[in-house]
Parts: sequence; structure tokens; C-alpha cells
Amino acid sequence: MSDKNIIIEKENGIITASLNRPDALNALNDELMDELLTAVDNYEKDDSLRCMILTGSSKAFAAGADIKQMQPKSYMDVYKEDFITRNWESVASCRKPIIAAVSGYALGGGCELAMMCDFILASESAKFGQPEINLGVSPGAGGSQRLTRFIGKSKAMDMCLTGRMMDAEESERSGLVSRVFPNESFMKDVMEVAIAVSQKSMIATMMTKEMVNRSYETTLSEGIRFERRLFHSMFATEDKKEGMSAFIDKRKPEFKDK
Ligand code: CAA
Repeated sequence: MSDKNIIIEKENGIITASLNRPDALNALNDELMDELLTAVDNYEKDDSLRCMILTGSSKAFAAGADIKQMQPKSYMDVYKEDFITRNWESVASCRKPIIAAVSGYALGGGCELAMMCDFILASESAKFGQPEINLGVSPGAGGSQRLTRFIGKSKAMDMCLTGRMMDAEESERSGLVSRVFPNESFMKDVMEVAIAVSQKSMIATMMTKEMVNRSYETTLSEGIRFERRLFHSMFATEDKKEGMSAFIDKRKPEFKDK
């Protein structure tokens, strides 16, 4: 299926959403974000889909929010239309796994969109940055908060105040990216990771996502209490019985998401 701004492909339970505005380096305009909102919604509702890959082109994941669309907007425009909040946050609030696959530029809103995913895989060509300061503004889709939690205050402040880019090696070293793969095999390597994620129990996957995400929102003791409650609750699932029995029987588990 090809929408105007996103190409959707589905294969073996994996849905790949490729941002597709090549002439604008996949700048994130309102139409594209509406399409992404719909794609994430459809993914969540479809039990046959078990992992989403969000990607761009080899030149750009996304070069940020669309500056040409933002340029004429006033304070009242963005406040009234609930700019960003209205159609960006679905990626962060999706209960099923989403992997960001970044090649080339992931700048401003592009970097922020990647950080809304569960984890980021990068090709050697990836370049991350929060250059909004060069436009006389700041990050506006969570960058000042998420980047700081990912890479710490000093480096986040450096990135946001200078507007510089970091390459794949630096972004892996600083914890923004979980793994870097060669340019040549990138999407094949990403697909292998997505398949590995898709083969687990969806209940355990969703609960694990909740736990890790909760660690950003609460204290250590509350987070551990939250983890313990969900961990205990998984002892009520068939997938827990299957997973542990399969280990003991030395066979591959067959999860039923029950
Ligand atoms: N919005 C709109 N159009 C963009 C864009 C953006 N964020 N980024 C690139 N484009 C467009 C360019 O205007 C150009 O279009 P034309 O051919 O019509 O002139 C086309 O994409 C190709 O771009 P360049 O010619 O600039 O390509 P380059 O290879 O020379 O440079 C780049 C690449 C360094 C990424 C450069 O395009 C750039 O600096 N882009 C802007 C990056 C940026 O500032 N991002 C932050 C946006 S603000 C934001 O995201 C707010 C937020 O937090 C939500």
C-alpha cells in the first residue's frame, strides 16, 4: 500500500512504514504525521502484525518538522491546533513494539520521532541532531527531555545549544542508538531484529515495554514495585507455562499470546 507520504509494507507479521517525501528529505509535515497516526492505529488493531519498523530512505530518516509549513504559523495557530501533540505522540504511546531504523539525517523532529520508538537501530551513515536552535527555536517534540534521558545532560545540552550533528559511532557510544549496522546490509539486519522481537509472546512484550517506559516516569522503588506486579501477573498466562516448559523440554516455544 502506498499513501502519499508513507509507504507501508507487510511481510511475515512485520509492518514497515517508510517515510516518503524524498524531495524534502522526509520533512515531517502535518499530512505525513496524520498518515503515520493512521498506520500506527491500524498496526495496533491488527493481531497478525507483531512488530513495526519505522524508517526513511538511505539519505534521510527525516530532516525534522517541515520548516516551510511551520514558517507562517503564529503562536495562536500552533496552540489552537495542538501542534505536535495532536498527531505525533501515537508512536510513543503505541503498546506494541516499534523499532526506528535510521539511515542518513535524523534531525530535529526526525531525531525526536526516532526517540519515540522503542529503540533505534542505525546504519553507519546515520546523523542525529537537534538543530532547532539555528532556527531561533528549541526542540518541540520531546527532544529536550528524551535526548537528555538517553545521553545525559552534558551531551544533550551540547547537541541542543550548538545544533551540531553526531555520527552513528558517537550516537551508539552515548546510548542514543542500540546497534549500528553496515550500510549495505542495513534493512536486512533490521528485519532480522524485528523478526526476533515478533517471535516472543506479545503479552510479555507489551508488559515489558510498559515496565521499561515506566522507569522514565517514576522513582526506582515505585518502578520495581510496578515491574514486580506485572512480572507476577505473567504467571497467569499460558505463554509463561509454554515458555518455561519449552526450555525444560529443549524445544522452541509456541506462544499463543494468551
Ligand atoms: N523542512 C522542510 N524542508 C526541508 C527540511 C525541513 N526540515 N529539511 C530539508 N528540506 C528540504 C530543503 O528545503 C530542500 O528543498 P528544495 O530543494 O525545495 O530547496 C530539500 O529538502 C533538500 O535539502 P537541502 O538542499 O538543504 O539538502 P542538503 O543535503 O544540502 O542538506 C540538511 C541537508 C543538512 C539536512 C539540510 O536540509 C537541513 O539543515 N535541513 C533542516 C534541518 C533542521 O533544521 N531540522 C529541524 C527542523 S525544526 C523541528 O524539527 C522542530 C521540532 O522539534 C518539532
